[in-house]
Amino acid sequence: MYTVPKLKSYTAAALDKAVEKLRAALSEEAKAVESEADRKVFRDRWMARKNGVLTQINDLWLKPSPKEAKREVGRRVNEIRTLVEDVVSKAENFQLHLSTGRSIKESADRLDITLPGIRRPLGAEHPVIKTMHEIVSVFRNLGYSVQEGPVIETDYYNFEALNFPPNHPARDSQDTLFIAGQESKPQRERLLLRTHTSPVQIRTMQKMKPPVRIVIPGKVHRNDPPDASHSPMFHQVEGLAVDTNITFCDLKGTLDHAMKSLFGSSVKTSFRPSFFPFTEPSAEMMVSCFICGGSGKRGTELCRPCKQTGWIEILGCGMVDPNVYGFVDYDPRKVSGFAFGMGADRIAILKYGVDDIQFFFNGDVRFLEQFA
Ligand code: PHE
Repeated sequence: MYTVPKLKSYTAAALDKAVEKLRAALSEEAKAVESEADRKVFRDRWMARKNGVLTQINDLWLKPSPKEAKREVGRRVNEIRTLVEDVVSKAENFQLHLSTGRSIKESADRLDITLPGIRRPLGAEHPVIKTMHEIVSVFRNLGYSVQEGPVIETDYYNFEALNFPPNHPARDSQDTLFIAGQESKPQRERLLLRTHTSPVQIRTMQKMKPPVRIVIPGKVHRNDPPDASHSPMFHQVEGLAVDTNITFCDLKGTLDHAMKSLFGSSVKTSFRPSFFPFTEPSAEMMVSCFICGGSGKRGTELCRPCKQTGWIEILGCGMVDPNVYGFVDYDPRKVSGFAFGMGADRIAILKYGVDDIQFFFNGDVRFLEQFA
């Protein structure tokens, strides 16, 4: 912290040097002013009548100066006074800038370009949200609209209406986090954290008649211990198309197009049989690895993202099970449709080459600002 020295010499050079040091200290301390409290301390330190720096230079520089030097010292002390007043008043306006911007012009008129500017860090989309927006926009371009639903769901929407009967073992595949204290309610009304975005399929079909073409981005939860590839909270983008004469070909064509839009026109897709209670038939879709180009190798190294297989499992899908239509009053003899669901975090990991899903959620700005 700067202290006002006694002057041993009153030559112009010695005075210049002393003034220079004081100016540097003033500018340094002004930079550190960040709050109203800082500003008061700063003002008092420099301007307090009793023992402020201005008072001190008066006492230590001007008063004891020899007669011949008085004029010169007096002039500099006055200059310093003006400067200090100016800087302190700018520090006052600083607060105003932040809240109203009103006095920017006023202080810009006496701008000291050696003082640091007011830094406003720019906000940016989180990489997972950005990825979700990209996925959603691919489907919007195909004429799909966006639907959302609650993260805290009932057993009915998360399971029963999706053709998971009560106590059916298929429920075990989705490690569910239940809300406590629901035991007194009938099972279908009990609350839980939705394990997938599929309940929004039901909610949408309840309020809209076919044709339906929707995408559903959202947060989901499962009781998975966190590690490099799991998080108890993650994100999905779901899709649903129901109309007359929708076939598995439509599913394949739509998803193939979507993957080419997302990962580049050279990726291939491949489907293999799977099971979901709410689709029949069901499939898992793979895309050819866009990192190694499907070869399983990167130069002389093995390709990690596709585990050297050349294929990456990217989503679950299938034709809507006719039983589901029974829950929403659609006539399965008249309509058909397909649905799919993908993990947005996983796609973000692949797209950006991130090693650990935890980076997305532990809020370290050094990681996140790379995507700004
Ligand atoms: N909801 C399924 C899951 O989370 C994914 C899925 C969605 C499968 C739609 C088929 C149709 O695993």
